[in-house]
Amino acid sequence: EKGGYPSFMEKEINDQPAAVGDTLLGRADANGRLMLDEVRIDPELLKSVDKIIVLACGTSAYAGQVAKYAIEHWCRIPTEVELSHEFRYRDPIVDGNTLVVSISQSGETMDTLMAVRYAREQGAKTVAICNTNGSTIPRESDAVLYTHAGPEIAVASTKAFLAQITAAYLLGLYLAQLRGLKFQGEIRDILSDLGAIPKKIQAILDNADQIKKLAREMADTKSVLFLGRHVGFPVAMEGALKLKELAYIHAEGFAAGELKHGPIALIEEGQPVFVVVPSPRGRHSLHSKVVSNIQEIRARGAKTIVIAEEGDEAVRAYAEHVFYIPETPTLLAPLLATVPLQMFACELATAKGYDVDQPRNLAKSVTVE
Ligand code: BG6
Repeated sequence: EKGGYPSFMEKEINDQPAAVGDTLLGRADANGRLMLDEVRIDPELLKSVDKIIVLACGTSAYAGQVAKYAIEHWCRIPTEVELSHEFRYRDPIVDGNTLVVSISQSGETMDTLMAVRYAREQGAKTVAICNTNGSTIPRESDAVLYTHAGPEIAVASTKAFLAQITAAYLLGLYLAQLRGLKFQGEIRDILSDLGAIPKKIQAILDNADQIKKLAREMADTKSVLFLGRHVGFPVAMEGALKLKELAYIHAEGFAAGELKHGPIALIEEGQPVFVVVPSPRGRHSLHSKVVSNIQEIRARGAKTIVIAEEGDEAVRAYAEHVFYIPETPTLLAPLLATVPLQMFACELATAKGYDVDQPRNLAKSVTVE
């Protein structure tokens, strides 16, 4: 049932074009009008939402962090992302105009379940983004948006993550549609960009050799840093988490803009640093800022490993290794940039002889607090 792959992890990384494609399936009509029938919350109520709180743990929380950028941009609704276990114990401000979006692959994570219960008690409306039909969190929520990643067996999450980002984006676009903030044509265009993602993921998967080779060469590495900015920041965090979970290597993700405020002190000769570079076509000139970050760490001896958009030649001069991902709008880039980082962690852990499906000390779903 591993589909010919040596591990569920590899299979699931390779399932990602389908995970995203299936999550998009049947959600919109030919004019790009979203029909999220499963979100059975009165549209009038959804229109009055004045705050969104996304609750999740682990990889699912990074999906939430990615979604925040898109939801705020499209819907203009202030959106917080919080770890479920922190949310519950800090006297959060929640009321009837708050929409709580939980993200959970299993739908059974106790911390997230308890946070959702708490939010409902405070009067919030709750939507669950979940990969497991009929699980507890969707049953206890007002509405559910299922990710259709298929069963995820490997303990560390991969395909569920991309499906969660996809579903959260659908929810964001749906809210924008309801509130009339986006012209229908724009939503249709974004949906069509999303529709092109599975093929682009496939292109990355088909070119896995280079990153796998690097992973094997780096099997003895003691510490790896990851830098990203904007939506690339949670991608960097997820890249670091995958490496911790699978390869038991110390890894940290940082916001690239934070570099000079602390993390740059960690850079010494030979320190490997992955840098997730924003598209040079992006609106905020973040590309040149991140390229400057690469120069800064390179000058201090870092081994720079760069994930950049195809055609971005500017990064080459400062990068020891460049992995290119296909062009896509900035907000959708996490659906591509994450994939090489997953492959890197999986291959490196495999090279060390570890069981990538069942990493030590971890459980697939944590049903205790
Ligand atoms: C952890 C899993 O224990 O729970 C992670 O090992 C996962 O892979 C996290 O991201 C959250 O799980 P879920 O099911 O709520 O998405």
